[in-house]
Amino acid sequence: MFITFEGIDLSGKSTQIKLLAEYLTRLKKKVVIVREPGGTKISERIRDILLDKDHYEMADTTEFMLFSASRRQLTQEIIIPSLKKKSYVISDRYYDSSTAYQGYGGGLDLKMINSINNVASCGIEPDITILLEIDLQCWLSRKKTEGRTDDRIESKKIAYYKKVINGYKKIAEMNKKRFVIVDATASKQEVHENIVSALSNFTKKKKSKSSI
Ligand code: TYD
Repeated sequence: MFITFEGIDLSGKSTQIKLLAEYLTRLKKKVVIVREPGGTKISERIRDILLDKDHYEMADTTEFMLFSASRRQLTQEIIIPSLKKKSYVISDRYYDSSTAYQGYGGGLDLKMINSINNVASCGIEPDITILLEIDLQCWLSRKKTEGRTDDRIESKKIAYYKKVINGYKKIAEMNKKRFVIVDATASKQEVHENIVSALSNFTKKKKSKSSI
């Protein structure tokens, strides 16, 4: 099963991925966690290029191509072999991030993004995508509390983030079958429980379909 997590920075993806992985491990499932951009030797090097603040001159399409190159390597090297071994693969971001950030946020052509997403993912679609949703207000207040320094992508303007948040809503709307929107402003434990119940509903639906 291929599970992806999406959402803007500070939506709590890494905490929730950890909790879900612990839960699945308790159920004796094999779990592989990956992150984007990164997750392989080559993809981590691409990540460094992408997030380096000195690279202010990076063209939008270059940025998108680099995310895609990193994704293709990760998919071929880790995701596909792990799925073949019947592991649960949990990815911290996947191609919906490119659609939300570079497409809706950055204004790159969505058709072009979709077709390259298809190449970068070797045509593999996540079985379920958990969108951790926080609004701009919550994002701003979490940002203040954390007081952390931004990477190159995160230091883009607030208007950009609004577009990314709305972009995610549109992507979820267009991919209702695999998307689950979870209110990520709730407590860690509540968010975790909502994710587990979404996953078990999804598995039940899948089982009943395959028995027809
Ligand atoms: P990261 O430190 O991994 O942040 P996060 O915890 O939010 O995932 O940095 C990844 C940054 O790259 C993040 O700001 C989102 C951005 N990004 C894109 O713009 N497009 C993409 O396709 C991906 C995978 C990430």
